[in-house]
Amino acid sequence: MGKGSFYLTTPIYYVNDVPHIGHSYTTIAADALARYERLKGRDVFFLTGTDEHGQKIHRAAHASNETPEALVNRVVERYKFMWKGLSISNDDFIRTTELRHTRRVQKIFQRLLEKGDIYLGEYEGWYCVPCESFWTAGQLTGGNCPECGRTAERLKEANYFFKLSKYRNRILEHIDSNPQFIQPESRRNELRNRLLAGVDDISVSRQALPWGIPVPMDPGHTIYVWIDALLNYITALGYDDETEKFNRYWPADVHLIGKEILWFHGAIWPAVLMALDVPLPKKVFAHGWWTIEGQKISKSLGNVIDPLKITEQYGVDAYRYFVLREVPFGMDGNFSYTMLIHRINSDLGNDLGNLLMRSLTMIEKYFDGKVPSPQGTREEGIDLVEDAARLEAEVDDEMEALQLSLALEAIWEFIARTNKYIEESKPWVLAKNDRSALSITLYNVAEALRLISIYISPFMPQTSQEMFCQLGIPEEDHIQRSERCWGRLRPLTKTKKGKALFPRIEVSAQPV
Ligand code: MSP
Repeated sequence: MGKGSFYLTTPIYYVNDVPHIGHSYTTIAADALARYERLKGRDVFFLTGTDEHGQKIHRAAHASNETPEALVNRVVERYKFMWKGLSISNDDFIRTTELRHTRRVQKIFQRLLEKGDIYLGEYEGWYCVPCESFWTAGQLTGGNCPECGRTAERLKEANYFFKLSKYRNRILEHIDSNPQFIQPESRRNELRNRLLAGVDDISVSRQALPWGIPVPMDPGHTIYVWIDALLNYITALGYDDETEKFNRYWPADVHLIGKEILWFHGAIWPAVLMALDVPLPKKVFAHGWWTIEGQKISKSLGNVIDPLKITEQYGVDAYRYFVLREVPFGMDGNFSYTMLIHRINSDLGNDLGNLLMRSLTMIEKYFDGKVPSPQGTREEGIDLVEDAARLEAEVDDEMEALQLSLALEAIWEFIARTNKYIEESKPWVLAKNDRSALSITLYNVAEALRLISIYISPFMPQTSQEMFCQLGIPEEDHIQRSERCWGRLRPLTKTKKGKALFPRIEVSAQPV
């Protein structure tokens, strides 16, 4: 049953360098959201990709003694490899060097020129290559880029400009009348204030930059890499010569981004869409930044960690769980091996892994490894059933608000509740004196486990699969594997207790 479409995007990643924890975070969060929406029966289109043009890439290629083409073709593979390794379920992957993108970008640029929203002028100011951003002298902090703190370069060249100022009031009105448009609230206020302070028209081309999309009819200019990049969200859908996909999925439900690129997504992008008469995305959510053991992630500090190194040692799902659970979505977070190991041992090993293990052990011992048929009814299981029903609404609300860590918290409360239910019901005592009560208790526990496997599936897809296998629910049984109402687990299902989901890790096992 379809419940409408859902279009979700990540930023497209610069391919000048190797991906790190920060990059993986945006995509893991997007993946959890995409999987959750699919679970709800929605027609999801989840897009990610790579931002392959611009001066930054051009310089990186020069520094590594290769052509920009060779660099982007090499580095893009690292991204693709990483997404595979992190169980990312994107539906498409767009590269800005692909013809499907470049030809549409040129067409759009041409249209805006003809409309008068893009015009030729003279730029005099500053440019930060690592951020690919233009700054005025007044915006610099101590001569450096206010965003990344690195040295900005002086520029004086003929540029095409986009009439951002023309759209400022409309954007402000849109932000004010759609409180959900920019999230979280604090970021929305920052963006509003910056818009209120006044905006100038912006440069949308660079002169004599050999690595980018040429301005149509004026190939001595290259389209500004941010305009090129932002347009990926619609060119990937076929805008505007292939209408089927575009009409099906646009406007985007969520653009997930990091907080440092909100200006581009919350001001420039809406203005470009307004100029094109294309509806605005429903939501732009800016998440926070990760540090590593308290420090900014940076190549010069030598603390860049390849996420696949972490997953090799601790597992993909443990890593996904950690980054999504550890910080409220929207806030900054700190990665530390000690905290990761702590979460694995306590939340994953003790709470979840042990629950599965002890439950299946009892089903084996008392019911010959078959989920019992509940005999009659018992009062004390009713609470658990009610909690399960409440969990559905709670998780839905938190996911709707993109509060992924709170959704996980709610799921873990239910896991704790199920563990407590076992303690209170004491199946080992019932086994001696009340077989029918025992059958009800262990059915309830197994059914709670089935629900837990469903709820964790967007966040920890492999663990969810493993739990279904151990519970004996076959892959093709979509009802048992997706329906969240109580009582779908079929009695007499043959369980297959396997290895511990998350064996304990000694704290001393952390890498130095
Ligand atoms: N190419 C642009 C985006 C264009 S979208 C039309 C870009 N690329 S990026 O590779 O620098 O960053 C991509 C994403 O990674 C951003 O969402 C950014 O916030 C995220 N992160 C990069 N480092 C990060 C951390 N240390 N922590 C969390 N996320 C960070 O910007």
